[in-house]
Amino acid sequence: MEDLAAPAPPSGGFTYLVATSQALGLAVILVLGAWIGVYRGGIAWESSELQFNIHPLCMIVGMVFLQGDALLVYRIFRNESKRSTKILHGLLHALALVIALVGLIAVFENHKKKNAPNMYSLHSWCGIAAFSFYLLQWLLGLVFFLCPGVSFSVRSRYKPQHVFFGVFLLILSITTSLLGIVELLLFKIRQVYSSLVPEEVLANILGLLLVAFGAALAYILTRDEWRRPPLAEELALSMDFKTLTEGESPAGPH
Ligand code: HEM
Repeated sequence: MEDLAAPAPPSGGFTYLVATSQALGLAVILVLGAWIGVYRGGIAWESSELQFNIHPLCMIVGMVFLQGDALLVYRIFRNESKRSTKILHGLLHALALVIALVGLIAVFENHKKKNAPNMYSLHSWCGIAAFSFYLLQWLLGLVFFLCPGVSFSVRSRYKPQHVFFGVFLLILSITTSLLGIVELLLFKIRQVYSSLVPEEVLANILGLLLVAFGAALAYILTRDEWRRPPLAEELALSMDFKTLTEGESPAGPH
């Protein structure tokens, strides 16, 4: 008889691709750290020059790395209970949101100190949209999936939207980061931009690593056979939940 309680591990290079995605994510953070540390003077909240550097650091750690890893949780933790996986998913997104908020406060406060104009660039428009929809997605996820009392059919109807916007917001965050990289280079090294100076090579490599991280994650997340299969007890529980919230007989038609 088939053992539903212990689903088979995913095949076809799943483990290698997850490891590659994590190596790419760490490489993103290392290259970003090198750019900020070697060429941009590091970070400091009090200094008006260095406060800006907190912005790219927090935005990439929060809205790219942690947001991306929160999406992987359901693919990696296949034998844990659905509830603990959901809580880990929600907590990683919450941490990502808090770190991203610090990054946004850093750039707005920095602009205020320097009397610089706000919200004029395509980067800033995409950025504020990405952050606002990410916050909304988190709040809706909390209400639909963690609040008791939301019916099974409402949850099932909302889930495809939640999954689509999850991947879409990661892609939007990576695109926004690419726009930010170009904008920062143009602010800092406009005169030598066409000479491919070492700082620009490093920043371009950072951009490529971000694209590769996004591609690895999008591939993992869109492979149907790598989805987390429901555990046996979850199947039974979801039938009970459906019966309780909609009054249907578990044996009745769906
Ligand atoms: C998902 C990631 C990111 C989001 C959501 C985001 C969001 C924003 C927002 C809303 C602003 C406007 C601040 C204002 O007008 O006062 C801004 C400014 C800026 N960001 Fe980002 N950012 C992100 C990543 C990055 C990265 C990775 C870099 C550079 C490596 C960067 C570089 C800049 C620069 C140079 C500005 C100032 C110029 C401007 O107002 O457009 N950003 N960002």
